Amino acid sequence: MISRKMQDAMNDQVAAEFYSAHLYLSMSAYLESIDLPGFANWMRIQYQEEVSHGMKMFDYVIERDGRVLVKAIDAPLSEWKSVVSVFEAVYEHEQKVTGLINNLVDIALSEKDHASHIFLQWFVNEQVEEESTAKGIVRQLTMLGDSKAGLFQVDRELAQRVFTPPATTAR
Ligand code: FEO
Repeated sequence: MISRKMQDAMNDQVAAEFYSAHLYLSMSAYLESIDLPGFANWMRIQYQEEVSHGMKMFDYVIERDGRVLVKAIDAPLSEWKSVVSVFEAVYEHEQKVTGLINNLVDIALSEKDHASHIFLQWFVNEQVEEESTAKGIVRQLTMLGDSKAGLFQVDRELAQRVFTPPATTAR
């Protein structure tokens, strides 16, 4: 059975993953509003990924005979200055999430909870990918500068992204 301390921390992270989902859905709506449907699609897939992260942890707590508590989610921002500022905010947000995941790993170690430690490695790896992807898009957009043709091209590329559920789930 999962310890109370680990369970509570995981419940906080379930809420944090759903906040990320809300944030990316709001960004998707903003990107639609500035006529970038491909970027909006990319962000909509990101929303689905965050929901799957939250559910992965939700299922894990239940599998360990813990109790999941579904918490209130704060409203995210709804306006940004530009598409670049959106992706800078994604990169910044993912760095914060990495810190939250690292804290969970620290708790798993202090609780001597080896199962949670192993479970959390998926999230540790995922954060490396999340930060790298967001940073890559910021870099790409920065290189484009004011090129409308370039922005249109990237928008078409990001329109191709589809949701692939995580290969490993807790149950
Ligand atoms: Fe759930 Fe974007 O990491």
